[in-house]
Amino acid sequence: MYYFSRYLLVMLFHSTLVLGHRPLERSHSLSLVTMVPLLELERKLIDNLENYTNALEQKLEIIRSQLLVMRAENEKGMRNAVSYLSNPLNSFSLIRRLHQDWIKWRKYMEQPVGISQLKAFYSWEDELPTERDLWDACEGIGRITSTYDLKVGDFINGNIKGKQYNASMSSADILSVGAILAKKNSPSDAIQWLQEVPQRLQEELLIRPRHLSIKEVDALRILAEAQIKEKNYSEALPLLHNCLKLLPHDARLLRLWKKTTDLIANQPDPSPTEDKERKVAIANAFKLGCNKPLESSTRLHCFYNFTTTPFLRLAPLKIEQIGLDPYVVLYHEVLSAREISMLIGKAAQNMKNTRVHKEQGVPKKNRGRTAKGFWFKKESNELTKGITRRIMDMTGFDLADSEGFQVINYGIGGHYLLHMDYFDFASSNHTDTRSGYSMDLGDRIATVLFYLTDVEQGGATVFADVGYSVYPQAGTAIFWYNLDTNGKGDPRTRHAACPVIVGSKWVMTEWIREKRQIFIRPCLPPAKGTSTKS
Ligand SMILES: *[C@@H]1O[C@H](CO)[C@@H](O)[C@H](O)[C@H]1NC(C)=O
Ligand SMILES: *[C@@H]1O[C@H](CO)[C@@H](O)[C@H](O)[C@H]1NC(C)=O
Ligand SMILES: *[C@@H]1O[C@H](CO)[C@@H](O)[C@H](O)[C@H]1NC(C)=O
Ligand SMILES: *[C@@H]1O[C@H](CO)[C@@H](O)[C@H](O)[C@H]1NC(C)=O
Ligand SMILES: *[C@@H]1O[C@H](CO)[C@@H](O)[C@H](O)[C@H]1NC(C)=O
Repeated sequence: MYYFSRYLLVMLFHSTLVLGHRPLERSHSLSLVTMVPLLELERKLIDNLENYTNALEQKLEIIRSQLLVMRAENEKGMRNAVSYLSNPLNSFSLIRRLHQDWIKWRKYMEQPVGISQLKAFYSWEDELPTERDLWDACEGIGRITSTYDLKVGDFINGNIKGKQYNASMSSADILSVGAILAKKNSPSDAIQWLQEVPQRLQEELLIRPRHLSIKEVDALRILAEAQIKEKNYSEALPLLHNCLKLLPHDARLLRLWKKTTDLIANQPDPSPTEDKERKVAIANAFKLGCNKPLESSTRLHCFYNFTTTPFLRLAPLKIEQIGLDPYVVLYHEVLSAREISMLIGKAAQNMKNTRVHKEQGVPKKNRGRTAKGFWFKKESNELTKGITRRIMDMTGFDLADSEGFQVINYGIGGHYLLHMDYFDFASSNHTDTRSGYSMDLGDRIATVLFYLTDVEQGGATVFADVGYSVYPQAGTAIFWYNLDTNGKGDPRTRHAACPVIVGSKWVMTEWIREKRQIFIRPCLPPAKGTSTKS
C-alpha cells in the first residue's frame, strides 16, 4: 500500500468545478453521513420484497384452497368411475372442466407474480452502489487492517483492536475484500482475507440461501493466484488440486495447474525485491504515527494564552504544545457542541466529493483522500463570522483574504495520504485556473484544523517526519505554520490523516493565506517559561 506520495499538493476544490455535474458519481463509501440514505434504500427494498412475498402468498392461497375442492371431486369419481360417470351431471361437468377450467388454470399458472414489485425494484436500481463503490469500500477495509496490523481473523469477527463489536463479516464480504485486494496487486494482503473464506462458508452452510452463496472454487482459485503472485508456488498447488476436485474439466484451472507445476520446476525461491523493502519502510513510519497510543502521543506542556486581544484576557485559550520545531499546537474547547452540530447539520445536506489537486506517485485507482466535504464562506452567517473572529484571536492573523472553511466527513477507512498544505508557488506551475486558487493571495502560511467529532478508533493526524500524532477530540483545533520565516514551504509539516477504524470523523479546515499578513509579526513559539501554566 502507498501511504506516501512525494508531492501531494492539496488544492482541494468542489468536484463540480472539475467534473461538471456528474450525478452518477455518488462515491457512497467516501463519507459516512452520505451513506444514511443507503439504509433507507435497503429498507424500501426489504418492504418491496415483503410485498412480493405477499403477492406470491395470495396466489398460493388461491391455488391451495382450490386444490382441496378439485381433489375431493376427482376422488369421488375415482372410487367408482363407472357409477360416477353414469350420472350426466358428473360426466358433463368433467368434460366442461377439462375443456374450460384447466385452460384457465394454465393461464393462471403462466401469469407472472409480483410485476409491480419488480417494476418498483427496477426504478430504484440506479441508486444501488456501483462496482466502484464496492472497490472504494474494500480499499477502506484493507487500509484499516494493514495500517493497524489487525489480524483479519479477529477483524471479520468484530474484534477490533481488542474491542468486541456486535458485527461480523459474511463469506461474501470476506471474498469481496480478498478478491479486490488481489486485483489491486496486493497479493499478500489478499491472501490473509481469502484464507478465511472456506471456514466462514462452512459456518454459513445452513443459513445462506443458494442464490446468494459464493462459490468455494472461486475463493480457492483467487487464493491460489495470489499465492502464485507471491511466488509461493507450493502453497498454490494444493489449492488448485482442491479446485480441480470441484471442477475437474475447467480449462482455466488446468492451465493454471500446468503453469504452477512449470514454475515450481523452473524457478528457485526468490528473495524480496529492494523496491518492496523501501515501500515497507515508508509505510512503517506512517503506521508508527497512526498506532501511537493515545497517552504517549506527543504532549510537551499546556498553558493559557491571555495575551493580544481583549477577548483572550476574558476567556484565555487553553493551548497544548504538540511540538516546537516545527511549531504545532492544540487549542482546547474552541468550538461548542452547539456550533459543531450546526456546522455538521448544514454541511451534511450538501456534501461533495473532495478532490486533491495533484497527486503524483499515487497509483491511479487509489484515492489519496477518501472523504466528502462542504465549503462555508467565512461571512455566510453569524456562526461562521464568530468562528472567523475566534481564529483571528487564536492566531493573530488577518483572515480577510483567507479561504472559506472546508468541513469534511470521512468514509469507510477514510484517510488522507501524507501531503503538505502549501502550494510552493515558486517551484511549481500554478496556471490551473479551474481550482479558483489565486497566487495573488499568497501561499498558505498556516493551517487551523478543527476536530468536530471524537473518533472511537483510528483517525489520528500524524506529522510522520517529526513523529507528532494527534487524536481527534470534538471542539479542539490544531494549528501549525506551513511556511518558514522566509516564506518557503516547510516540508516537515507533511502530514496525513490515518484511516478511521470506528467512528464518523468530521473536521473543518481553515487555510490562512500569506498576503494579508505582511505587516503582522509572525507569531512564533513562546520563549520558554513566559506566561505559561502547566
Ligand atoms: C407494500 O405494500 C403496501 C400495501 O399494499 C404499500 O402501502 C407499500 O407502499 C408497499 N411498499 C413498497 C415498498 O412498495
Ligand atoms: C447483536 O446483533 C444481533 C443481530 O445482528 C442481535 O440479535 C443481538 O441482540 C445483538 N446482541 C447484542 C448484545 O446487542
Ligand atoms: C508462503 O507460505 C507460507 C505458509 O503460509 C508462509 O509461511 C511463507 O511466509 C510464504 N512465503 C512467502 C514468500 O510469502
Ligand atoms: C497568544 O496568541 C497570540 C495570537 O492571538 C499569539 O500572537 C501569541 O504568540 C500567543 N502566545 C503564546 C504564548 O502562544
Ligand atoms: C512549468 O511548466 C513548464 C511549461 O509547461 C514546464 O516546462 C516546466 O517544467 C514546469 N515547471 C515545473 C516546476 O513543473
